[in-house]
Amino acid sequence: MLRTSFVCGLLLTIFLGTLCTSALAEDQDRPLKKGILLVAFGTTVPEARVALDNFETRAKERFPEMDIRWAYSSSIVRKILADDGLAMDSPVTALAKMMDDGFTHVAVQSLHTIPGQEFHDLQKTVQAFSGLPKGMEQVTLGQPLLDTPEDLGRCVQAMLSVLPQERKKDEAVVWMGHGTHHAANIYYPGLQAYLHQADPLILVGTVEGDPSLEDVLALLKNRKVSKAYLQPFMAVAGDHAQNDMAGDDEDSWKSMLEAQKITCVPILRGTAEFPAFVDLWMNHLQAAVDLLP
Ligand code: CO
Repeated sequence: MLRTSFVCGLLLTIFLGTLCTSALAEDQDRPLKKGILLVAFGTTVPEARVALDNFETRAKERFPEMDIRWAYSSSIVRKILADDGLAMDSPVTALAKMMDDGFTHVAVQSLHTIPGQEFHDLQKTVQAFSGLPKGMEQVTLGQPLLDTPEDLGRCVQAMLSVLPQERKKDEAVVWMGHGTHHAANIYYPGLQAYLHQADPLILVGTVEGDPSLEDVLALLKNRKVSKAYLQPFMAVAGDHAQNDMAGDDEDSWKSMLEAQKITCVPILRGTAEFPAFVDLWMNHLQAAVDLLP
């Protein structure tokens, strides 16, 4: 009896040992497969998608040897798209699929503007996927558009480089950022301080944080502005740009400014449509790719 259980135990040990060795061999034999996952907040506006398509084209040019996939971090956007038959993966689903498709190393790039809630959630997801058994060996994350103080300086240069050509010196350019309850909202007033040095009539406001539209309006009145260009400071010219910024409702930015006798010219182009901004993101993706073998 004792003898039998000893033999059984021994056989079990050998069996498990073989299993472990083959699992290990499986991992070691796995060919290196590197990929990129681009993560945007997402958009429900079909025309706004051009900004993301442009970004993908530029990423393919820069990293021609790597597979590029997409995920949207907004569950609300994904739900609306799914109802229209346009399902998009979440970052978790996209990374799980890449894991099953044999990717060993993945660089994830955030197309968010600031390191706020969406970015920090993505960071947690990325950390959770790094080094899972039989999963990816390494998953790295590229910073959003604004990260370091140098990024703010570069962003100001990008903003100056895409000003409407017909804009006159006494006309304002108002960038509409998203804004957030997250501490990273500080990037918007920070950017405003940098912009002020370059051109006091280039202003940043936000939909949900500071500076608010009221702050922007006060500055415009104070500086006796009679015409302003409105431009989204978001990767895509989506719902916020089309409705909150350029919409005809009386509480849109355009209507609120026009009520103060300021002529408005909305520009419906997301920052990811301009090479000057895409280059900033691309530097961050390059840094994430450079961490891979
Ligand atoms: Co929003």
